[in-house]
Amino acid sequence: MLVTIPDLLTKEQVSEAKTLLEAAEWIDGRATAGYQAAKTKDNQQIPEGHPATKQVGETILRALGQNPLFMSAALPLRIYPPMFNRYSGGQNFGTHVDGAIRQFPGSPVRIRTDLSATLFFEEPENYDGGELCVEDTYGVHRVKLPAGSLVLYPSTSLHHVTPVTRGTRLCSFFWLQSMIRDDGQRSLLFDLDLGIQRLGGELSGNEAAEKIAVQFTGVYHNLLRQWAEM
Ligand code: NI
Repeated sequence: MLVTIPDLLTKEQVSEAKTLLEAAEWIDGRATAGYQAAKTKDNQQIPEGHPATKQVGETILRALGQNPLFMSAALPLRIYPPMFNRYSGGQNFGTHVDGAIRQFPGSPVRIRTDLSATLFFEEPENYDGGELCVEDTYGVHRVKLPAGSLVLYPSTSLHHVTPVTRGTRLCSFFWLQSMIRDDGQRSLLFDLDLGIQRLGGELSGNEAAEKIAVQFTGVYHNLLRQWAEM
């Protein structure tokens, strides 16, 4: 399941973040790539632990925690500290799969990467190329979102970033471990949650129908109780 979270950050937050990120030190992105990915990765990153990374990362984590669509779609258990990359002058990232396990920098904490996230910081018209292409059994999904919007996709997917031939693509990327490991189960819960919310909006004043909505909410929580890993 591929989910878009529109306007995770406001335009002001995006602009403040860009100022901080553009002034930071940038290094070869291969520094954090595994053996396979290093052969196809060509971009720049800010080193992990850099003050700009921490500051903007905290803004992102706060926004995620307050975003009902993200919480419902991801059911996050642990979120890896956001990292940042940029592509320009034809840079790209060939087809790869993200590593299954990541260790938090400077900590013994590890996560299983269930979901990968890309948050866009540049408006799409300001650069050519730089599409995130995610492969699943329904084909290839091409994603290039407005500044401040985020895409979530299963970390199990093969994916690549097309060459940036004009301008600069600036993004944050990170992974998370979900309370629900299986993408199919997580999608079912997300659909059920969206349905219950829509039902809630239609029902006000109809007592019998409101009772049915409570019953479906019970089913949602009982499925979550069966499937959640903490
Ligand atoms: Ni990747």
